[in-house]
Amino acid sequence: MYIPVILGTAREGRQSENAAKFIHAEAAKFGFQTELIDVRDYRIPATDNTQQSPTAKKLEEKISRADGFIIVSPEYNHGYPGELKMMLDLLYQQYAYKPLGICGVSGGPIGGARMAEQLREVAVELHMVPIREAVYFPLVQNLFDEKGNIKDKAYYERIKPFFSELEWYARALKVARESTKR
Ligand SMILES: Cc1cc2nc3c(=O)[nH]c(=O)nc-3n(C[C@H](O)[C@H](O)[C@H](O)COP(=O)(O)O)c2cc1C
Repeated sequence: MYIPVILGTAREGRQSENAAKFIHAEAAKFGFQTELIDVRDYRIPATDNTQQSPTAKKLEEKISRADGFIIVSPEYNHGYPGELKMMLDLLYQQYAYKPLGICGVSGGPIGGARMAEQLREVAVELHMVPIREAVYFPLVQNLFDEKGNIKDKAYYERIKPFFSELEWYARALKVARESTKR
């Protein structure tokens, strides 16, 4: 199963990078084929004809090949970052009938849960299947040491149901896509 991890903010000094690297490393240990997709590498100035842009072409192969997705994103004013939405909007049918697992990151105590709820609605419009399980990183400024290692070891167990559910949907939907040619 190829499940890339999308890092949803390009902000200078972003704390979400620690969370995304942690999730990416654990996803690989879980057995997913994975890579980190950084929104910084897919930035566009505006939304004019972006589906025909070289940036969209650059992203297309990875999204087409994926069996599912993980998005690690901070919460900005209770929503997802604009650059994440602009990157997702570069493509459409390539996301279809594939599961999405969301990891929320926040400086406050809620862990990005409000962002995750909004992102699920966007995912449905892209014909993705957002899963119920999620991972939250509240008060992220306290969660990682200066080397980017997670300090709260409970996360190693906490993420397992998230990966398991994502794998279940990825397998089931792959069979369904192949048998129905979608
Ligand atoms: C524009 C902006 C809006 C933010 N809004 C929220 C918010 O609604 N809730 C929250 O808990 N933290 C909010 N934060 C704090 C971020 O969650 C915090 O910066 C955290 O470190 C994760 O984001 P980062 O990856 O950009 O560092 C906001 C940060 C920015 C830059």
